[in-house]
Amino acid sequence: MLVSLCLLAALIEVKAADFNGEDYWLLPRLFDLDNYDECLSHPDGLYCLGSFHLTPAEQPNHVYDLMTNYSKELYRFNRTVIRRGWCVSVRESNVTAEPMNRFEHCAAEWARSRRMRARLLRLEYCKSHSDVHATRSPDKSELAFLIAIAAIILLNAASTAYDYATRNNEKKIALLATWSVVANWRQLVEPYKSQQKSLQVVHGIKVIACACICIVHSAILLYSLFLYEPREMEQVIANPLTMTIQNSTTVVHMFIVLSSFLTAHNLLRSDKQFGFGTFLRLLAKRIIRLSPVCLLVIGFAGTWWPRVSDGPLWPAAVAEQSKICREKFWSHALFINNLVEPDKFCLLPTWYIAVDMQMSILAAILTMILAKFSKKAVPILVILFIGAIVLNAGLAYIHEWKSMLYFATVTENVHTLFRDIPSLGHFYMSPWGSLPACIAGLTVGHLVHFTEGETLGNTHKRRLHKLFYILCIPILVGWSMLGNYFQHIRHPIFVAAYAALERSFFQIMCILACIALAIINNLSLHAFTWRGWHLLAQLSLPVMQIHWCIALVIIGQSPQPVAASVLNILPVGVTTICFTYPLALLLTLLVELPMKRTFDFILR
Ligand SMILES: *[C@@H]1O[C@H](CO)[C@@H](O)[C@H](O)[C@H]1NC(C)=O
Ligand SMILES: *[C@@H]1O[C@H](CO)[C@@H](O)[C@H](O)[C@H]1NC(C)=O
Ligand SMILES: *[C@@H]1O[C@H](CO)[C@@H](O)[C@H](O)[C@H]1NC(C)=O
Repeated sequence: MLVSLCLLAALIEVKAADFNGEDYWLLPRLFDLDNYDECLSHPDGLYCLGSFHLTPAEQPNHVYDLMTNYSKELYRFNRTVIRRGWCVSVRESNVTAEPMNRFEHCAAEWARSRRMRARLLRLEYCKSHSDVHATRSPDKSELAFLIAIAAIILLNAASTAYDYATRNNEKKIALLATWSVVANWRQLVEPYKSQQKSLQVVHGIKVIACACICIVHSAILLYSLFLYEPREMEQVIANPLTMTIQNSTTVVHMFIVLSSFLTAHNLLRSDKQFGFGTFLRLLAKRIIRLSPVCLLVIGFAGTWWPRVSDGPLWPAAVAEQSKICREKFWSHALFINNLVEPDKFCLLPTWYIAVDMQMSILAAILTMILAKFSKKAVPILVILFIGAIVLNAGLAYIHEWKSMLYFATVTENVHTLFRDIPSLGHFYMSPWGSLPACIAGLTVGHLVHFTEGETLGNTHKRRLHKLFYILCIPILVGWSMLGNYFQHIRHPIFVAAYAALERSFFQIMCILACIALAIINNLSLHAFTWRGWHLLAQLSLPVMQIHWCIALVIIGQSPQPVAASVLNILPVGVTTICFTYPLALLLTLLVELPMKRTFDFILR
C-alpha cells in the first residue's frame, strides 16, 4: 500500500522551473530506435545499438549549451549522451567497412547536420541478417540444462506414481515418495504449526516485502530500457515523495536480521548441546534447500534465457547478463558470487542468497562460541555490533563507498543498472556491509532467549510498546524521507558515517517495531495470521530468484522505446507478480521441497 501511495504521489509533477517547454524540445531526442525486424529482414541488413557522446563542432552552439545546462541536475539524464538503435544498412551504404565504423559514420552524419561531433561511447551490439536468422544448435550447457529439467520431471512423475500405487501399502519406502507432487503439495498447504504464534507475523511481512521488491525491480528494469519520454523517469526520481522507495533498499537487509535471529533462536532453543556436528548439519540443510532452485535459475539465465525472445533492446538487456551468469555459475554454486568479480552481476537480486549464506554461517559460529558466555553474550554482541558499524564507516571512508541513497537518486545510474558503481558490488552487496544486520539479529535472538522468563508485559513497558507501535511507521517513513535532505550533504566524513549508520538505524527501528507488534498482539496481527501468508512465504526463495528474469521477458522484447510513467510501472509490476508466483510455486513443488524432504530423510 505504501508503494502504491508513493507511486500515486509521484504523479504530482515536479516543475522543471529552469527549463521552459520550447527549449526542452530543442534538445536532440535521447532515445531512438529504427524498426528492428524490418531492418534485419533484408539479406544485407545490419542493426546496431549503442550510445554516443556529442560535442560541439563549432562555437557558439546554442543547442549544445542547452544540453549541458539541462544535464547539470543529477536527477536528469546526461543529454550529451544519445542512445540509438539504428538500421545501419539503410542509413549507410559502404558495405566493405566494419559494422562498428559504419555505425559511427551514421552518427557522425547525424551530428554534422546539428553542427556537432559524435563519439561512440558504448557499443551494445551489431547484428546482421545472418546473426538473427541462422539456427544455432544447443551447446553443451544448454543441453545440460534440458537434461536437468527432464530429470526433475521424470523424478517427480516416477515418485508420484510410486506414491499413488503404494498409497494403502504399509511397507511403502518413504524415501522413494519424497518427490511425490501430491505429498509435497499437501505439505505446502499444511497450516503453520509452531508454538510461537508471534513468529507467524513474519510470514505476512515477508510476502508483502517480496511483492514490493518485485514491483520496484520491474520499475528499475523498465527504466533501464529505452524510454519514450525520459522526462517521466526524471520526474519520478526527482519527486521528494518517492524517496521512500529509492531509500528502501535497506529493507532487504531486514531479511538478514530475520535470518540470523532465527538461526540463534533455533540453536538456543534446542536443549541438546550443539557442536560442530550440528553446525555441519545446519549448513548442509541450508545448502540443499537453496542450491537447486538458485542453480536452476542461474542455469536458465545462462543458457536459454537469451533465446526466449528478441527485439532491438533484448540483446542489450539480456545477453550481457546471460554471459555473466554462464561465467560466474561456479561462484553461485559456492555462494561466493558477491566476492568473485563483485562488479559483474548476473541477475542483480541473486547477491542476497550469497550474503545470506555467508551470514548464516557466521551467525551459527558466533552462537556456538557465545554459548559459553551465557548471559554475557548480549553485551558482547552489542559491542560487536558497534564494532561492525565502525568497521563499515572506516571502509566506506577509505574506499569512498557511498550509501545507495547517493547513487539511486542519479537517473543515469538507474538507467545503466548501476554499472561501474563500486559502492554497489563492494559495499551494498558485500558480507561486511551486512555484518551489522547479522549481529543485530543475533543480539535479538539472544535477548529473547534470556528474557523469556521475565515479564515483558508489565503495564509501563506495555504503554511504551504501544507508543512505539503507533510511532514506528512515521519514524521509518520519516527516516527514509530525510534522504531528500541528506543527499545534498557531500562531505566525505558525513557520507561514510551515513553509509555505515543508515541501515543499522533502520534495522533497529524495524526490530523494535516487530517486538512491539509481537507483544501488543492486536487486530493488525490477526490480519497476518491468515494461512495464505504462510503458503506464499514458502515461495519467497524462488520468487526472489526468478522475478528479474520474468520482468525482463515481459518488457525486454519491446520493439519501441517504452512509456515509463507511473501508471505504466504498476501494470508491469503486477504482471511480473502474476507470472512469478505460479512459476515459483512450480519450482517449490517440483524442486525445492522434494530436495529438502529427501535430505531431511537422509540426514535424520
Ligand atoms: C546555461 O547556463 C549558463 C549559466 O548557468 C547561462 O549563462 C547560459 O545562458 C545558459 N545557456 C542557455 C543556452 O540557456
Ligand atoms: C555526460 O557524459 C559525458 C560522457 O560520458 C561526460 O564526459 C560528461 O561529463 C557528462 N556530463 C554530466 C553533466 O554528467
Ligand atoms: C568504405 O569503407 C572502407 C573501409 O573503411 C574504405 O576504405 C572505403 O574508402 C569506403 N568507401 C567509400 C565509398 O566511402
